[in-house]
Amino acid sequence: MNYVEVPRHVAIIMDGNGRWAKKKGLRRREGHLEGSKTLEKLALYAADKNIKCLSVYAFSTDNFKRSADEVNFLMDLFVKIFKTKLNKVIEAGVKIVFSGSEDNLPEEVIEAMKIICDKTKNNDKTILNVCLNYGGQEEIVEAAKKVAELYKNGKLNLEELDKVNFGRYLYQDLPPIDLLIRTSGEMRVSNFMLYQMSYAEFYFTNVCFPDFDEREFDKALDDYANRDRKFGKVKERE
Ligand code: FPP
Repeated sequence: MNYVEVPRHVAIIMDGNGRWAKKKGLRRREGHLEGSKTLEKLALYAADKNIKCLSVYAFSTDNFKRSADEVNFLMDLFVKIFKTKLNKVIEAGVKIVFSGSEDNLPEEVIEAMKIICDKTKNNDKTILNVCLNYGGQEEIVEAAKKVAELYKNGKLNLEELDKVNFGRYLYQDLPPIDLLIRTSGEMRVSNFMLYQMSYAEFYFTNVCFPDFDEREFDKALDDYANRDRKFGKVKERE
């Protein structure tokens, strides 16, 4: 299928793993496991579709409030996936980067993150930005602190700071989000990539993340291709 316009940056709030599992009479962890398989498929599909950047919400700073059992399971899953899975994704030329804070993350997770970043650092087909221990407000506050520090040390001219180059101080300097997808029927942004989504088109679906396959992704891309993006103007397309 040829899209009128392929989004450069797609972001996904991968929600509904727990509900998917519950509906099937399974434990929540089975939902996360299945979600990780879906993520692998979507990363491959994004590379295939020439989407330059795919950001995913893997774990928010607030997700530490979940039961220790679930948090530990997720941390172990991250280690396993970054260390031993994703081979096809890597072979497809996907570069993996992370956004978030290392605070409170287990050493093994940080180590696995470093390994996969290093392994994929020269890939240039698509960027997979995994938001892990991530908060959008926290990201902006940290960026503001970096700016203040540079200014204090005479290393930054405030006149030169603008909304585009401010991106250098965020966790990753990525293009603005064109399409934000949230699965499982919730209609919130939940502190996700607040700076980057200023003009994003939103796509909400009732499908739970483990079932959000290539076909569902296509539906979101089709929907996006038919949107009129105005960026504050009256009309963009004639
Ligand atoms: C939200 O669903 C999902 C998460 C908090 C975890 C997302 C993790 C994955 C998809 C696993 C793989 C990720 C990587 C990066 C390897 P939920 O648990 O809040 O679902 P619920 O709202 O139905 O309870």
